Amino acid sequence: MTKQQTILVAGATGSIGNSAAVALAKRGARVVLLGRRAEKLSSRADSIRDALTDAGDGHEVTDISTLVIDFSDMDSVRAAAEEALNRFPAIDGLVLSVGAFIQGGPNVLPSGHEVMFATNVMGPFLFTNLLLERMQQSDGLVLHVIAPFHEALDWDDLESLKNQRPMKAFNRTKECNRVIAGELARRYAGRISSVAFDPTFVLDKSDPELKDRWPHGFAGFVWRLMAIFRAKPAEVAGEPLAELMLTPRDRGSINGALFVLDKRSDKRDEAMNDEAEGERLWDRLELLTGPLQR
Ligand SMILES: NC(=O)c1ccc[n+]([C@@H]2O[C@H](COP(=O)([O-])OP(=O)(O)OC[C@H]3O[C@@H](n4cnc5c(N)ncnc54)[C@H](OP(=O)(O)O)[C@@H]3O)[C@@H](O)[C@H]2O)c1
Repeated sequence: MTKQQTILVAGATGSIGNSAAVALAKRGARVVLLGRRAEKLSSRADSIRDALTDAGDGHEVTDISTLVIDFSDMDSVRAAAEEALNRFPAIDGLVLSVGAFIQGGPNVLPSGHEVMFATNVMGPFLFTNLLLERMQQSDGLVLHVIAPFHEALDWDDLESLKNQRPMKAFNRTKECNRVIAGELARRYAGRISSVAFDPTFVLDKSDPELKDRWPHGFAGFVWRLMAIFRAKPAEVAGEPLAELMLTPRDRGSINGALFVLDKRSDKRDEAMNDEAEGERLWDRLELLTGPLQR
């Protein structure tokens, strides 16, 4: 019998994170739902348990647990990493599907950081690093959910603090996710594996908070149209994501790869493969987030 894997899912209350968590749990993984709101997390955990029970899969209720973390707040990220290390002797996988799109910026946090940059880039970077030692013990896999856009990084204004157009600022954070996915793969090759995952365009249309997540103005109009005509159900991403995390294989064989749903891309991704930019971003994030060890 293969060992049960423990997979942490960041952004578990969102469309992709939730569908990934359901798909992972269905396949027998021990799933830890990560999110910033305890009540919402526990109601998601209950609905996953109900879904499994209804499906007659008979998984233990203890297989789904929760961990509160605010990715925009580095103190919260450190506390959550500490808690994860205390609670989970093995961490086999980490899904990074956290994402904030906030208009009207730059929105500066008390820490001085821009909220989208802190949430989408700094927090996931710090959390991953704090878990790396533990993940190395089980040939861990980090999956970065990226977006199908490219936006060049602006090294004079990496956080888009000086000059912010929301979509551009957001896309820049997603570009950072690609760059870090590639850099992690290079730095930790042979110890853990890192892949990027493009979910295409999916939505959980039953999410009661969906309307709060929409952009407003013209961008919101375009999103609504795309949602009607183009968006697929969230399971379209959740199922292949879970397969990717749980398929038994030499994980080193996929280190540094980009997947579009269940297909490994054979095109070289510029951002993931830019070694100079990867090194530079890693070093900058290390300065911004503070020590990467406990
Ligand atoms: N959906 C797509 O078609 C698509 C396409 C390409 C890329 N992506 C990327 O995939 C990721 C997830 O997308 P999605 O559609 O699932 O988004 P979503 O439904 O908006 O979910 C975003 C998740 O991030 C969480 N989050 C936001 N701020 C947080 C914070 N400060 N601390 C902790 N968690 C926080 C949200 O928690 P709350 O529930 O508390 O708000 C939610 O769980 C994003 O990075 C997005 O860019 C999505």
